[in-house]
Amino acid sequence: MSESGGQGPVLRLEAVRKTFGRTVVLRDVDLEVAPHTVTALIGASGSGKSTLLRCANLLEEIDDGAIFLDGEEITDPRADPDAVRRRIGVVFQAYNLFPHMTVLQNITLAPRRVHGVGRAEAEERARELLERLGLSGKAGEYPDRLSGGQQQRVAIVRALACRPRLLLLDEITAALDPELVGEVLDVVRGLKDEGMTMILATHEMGFARDVADQVCFLDGGVVLERGTPAEVFGEPRQERTRRFLRRLVQAGRL
Ligand SMILES: Nc1ncnc2c1ncn2[C@@H]1O[C@H](COP(=O)(O)OP(=O)(O)OP(=O)(O)O)[C@@H](O)[C@H]1O
Ligand SMILES: [Mg+2]
Repeated sequence: MSESGGQGPVLRLEAVRKTFGRTVVLRDVDLEVAPHTVTALIGASGSGKSTLLRCANLLEEIDDGAIFLDGEEITDPRADPDAVRRRIGVVFQAYNLFPHMTVLQNITLAPRRVHGVGRAEAEERARELLERLGLSGKAGEYPDRLSGGQQQRVAIVRALACRPRLLLLDEITAALDPELVGEVLDVVRGLKDEGMTMILATHEMGFARDVADQVCFLDGGVVLERGTPAEVFGEPRQERTRRFLRRLVQAGRL
């Protein structure tokens, strides 16, 4: 029976292994993401957070293991990567908006070109999303006339315009000035309230603690510890997790 749209996990990683040359970047990673939940990936720089997200979106080929989207194995060589990517929205640290296109053109590009949505409908959806994310006046603007926070919100709208089953957010506030971080995190909170399933790699521990249902601490490509925010931040079992959190506290970041 197909799990599509059902109660099974939206995304499941089973013993995923990823190497770059002789470096093992993900080792035996298991992960389950239930519908309408937020998973936060935390861990030091280089621990494998981005690589995990890139593998989930088939931007990287895994060396071993399997990844399932709605119960269907997407790492099966017969799976169509483009069809998989149409179901997964991605937002990266650098917003990657096309500078020569207006906000509206940026947002409607994929729905029109990739999903075959008509122009009028794509624009209507885009305007609705822009309004929801507090950007209703910006449809005709070019990206370089927007603040970093506004550009990142446009990038989120662009990902949502394709009505993804799953949203992957990689350090989406890392390039922002501190005063702009809050507005982007508010958007993520709003999406959670609407039931969007998300995985986010983040260095914003306060945010992870606040918004995540599941926190995974990656260390050297291993999910060393996982649990609710209360468990991982409040009662970490592993010494390495404790050390990581202690360093954040010392740096004033937790
Ligand atoms: N294309 C690549 N070729 C070779 N090594 C890579 C490549 N991409 C990532 N790596 C290596 O994989 C490891 C994990 O990188 P990754 O970008 O997933 O870490 P991260 O947890 O996202 O770090 P950060 O917090 O700095 O974003 C690092 O050692 C990195 O150097
Ligand atoms: Mg990263």
